[in-house]
Amino acid sequence: MNHLPLIALDGPSGVGKSTTAKRVALELGWNYLDTGAMFRATALALHRAGITLEDGSRLQLLLDGLRIEQRGTREFLDGEDVSEAIRRPDITRMVSSVSADARVRQMLLEQQRAIGSRGSWVVDGRDIGTVVFPNACCKIFLTASVDARARRRFLELRNKGNATPLEEVAQDLERRDHQDTTRAIAPLRKAPDATELDSSNMSLEEVVAWIVRNHRAHA
Ligand code: DC
Repeated sequence: MNHLPLIALDGPSGVGKSTTAKRVALELGWNYLDTGAMFRATALALHRAGITLEDGSRLQLLLDGLRIEQRGTREFLDGEDVSEAIRRPDITRMVSSVSADARVRQMLLEQQRAIGSRGSWVVDGRDIGTVVFPNACCKIFLTASVDARARRRFLELRNKGNATPLEEVAQDLERRDHQDTTRAIAPLRKAPDATELDSSNMSLEEVVAWIVRNHRAHA
């Protein structure tokens, strides 16, 4: 039975999961957990230590001692605020392979369960409804076409003064979709009991209102 009062929000890159999850958490008075940021902080730690996924025992040692925390919406690695550093392009490129590693996933799975197991969390990621919290009361699989996601991301980048062409943004999203859906462990897919919401033609407000309504109807 799915009884844990927790919203599992899964979906592909660039669909607006974290913005949506933060807003839903605010509306419900719940906490918000960004699991992508945990994978990014792990990738940053490996990068800083100069450790690769092939460095067996050194990697395990690093994972065992890793201190990743989320305070509010900021991400901390060993007490340092790394919220900006984890979004750097070099870390974004690294994180797909880091997040496909079984040892990394196991370490973060335990942390994610320890954080959310009492409920009242909105958790966004790729495998929250399928693997991390299969007992969540409310599972949403948020999608949007590659075109819609690329256009949103393109405008976001342009507002930050980044002139990456739309085509390149779309190609990057497709590459990440492919990596996330085809990896052997915990690939991105809709849980059988999740509700799919295609947000291609919806505003952020509409998506947030839909999820809050859906949650209240099933709570
Ligand atoms: O959502 P994001 O772009 O910050 O996620 C960063 C990476 O982590 C991305 O490559 C997918 C991966 N990820 C994952 O494998 N499982 C999760 N629950 C969350 C993110």
